[in-house]
Amino acid sequence: MNIVTEIGHLREIRGNLRGTVGFVPTMGNLHEGHASLCRRARKENDFVVVSIFVNSKQFNQSSDFEQYQRTSEEDYKLLESLGVDVVFCPSEEVMYPNGYEVQVSETNLSRELEGEFRPGHFTGVLTIVLKFLNLVQPTRAYFGEKDFQQLMLVKKMVAELFLPIEIVSCPTIREESGLAISSRNMRLTAEQCKKAALLSSLLGSDSSDEAVKLELERQGFSPEYVATKWWRRLAAVWLDKVRLIDNLPTVKKDEKNAALS
Ligand code: PAF
Repeated sequence: MNIVTEIGHLREIRGNLRGTVGFVPTMGNLHEGHASLCRRARKENDFVVVSIFVNSKQFNQSSDFEQYQRTSEEDYKLLESLGVDVVFCPSEEVMYPNGYEVQVSETNLSRELEGEFRPGHFTGVLTIVLKFLNLVQPTRAYFGEKDFQQLMLVKKMVAELFLPIEIVSCPTIREESGLAISSRNMRLTAEQCKKAALLSSLLGSDSSDEAVKLELERQGFSPEYVATKWWRRLAAVWLDKVRLIDNLPTVKKDEKNAALS
């Protein structure tokens, strides 16, 4: 496995890859969710490239950025065991050599839900994702459905900018309790982890968005939003100082296809 930090080196390696390339962008602190994306990329491509970069531009609070766990050694071990070919882990200077004056923004759905509560977040995400896609030039790039709004925005950007890349959406990986796996779960106590599992069960219930929100409040969560959109029910909640997001489909795929046809 090649661990690469410089753009010149990445381009040289990329130039020698003959075949399809699957790309998994990450911010490190890898868990089973990331592993599942890498396994899928491994299965569907000749080569797999993973990026590890904690992108300061997509964090709203500097404390959240600073607290984000950096676990490079464990991450490399996991990626090696998954058969990843190249890990690109550039510095802030490499990715933003001239600051942050050129940005990629979407002006419609990036403003709602996550966008409303995290201004600038999606501009940070789209800007870094476009930089990575341009550098890695993958055949396919893999994103988890847990960050559903991010996935939709990346798909939209790739279509609008005519990038010849397939964006592959991958199902959310969950604990047995139903809790969506996330790097942020590590900040929860065992007690909070148990409680956090309520989020997915309430999202999957037949209750209205408003009733789910009220029940979350009653259970000690501070919800930012619970909304049904894009054939899914999505939510963001705080549990003490930890922000959790999750979403579940509201209809089965066949029903959705029938409704769209
Ligand atoms: O989903 C993430 O981990 C990040 O938003 C991404 C896509 C790696 C961009 O920094």
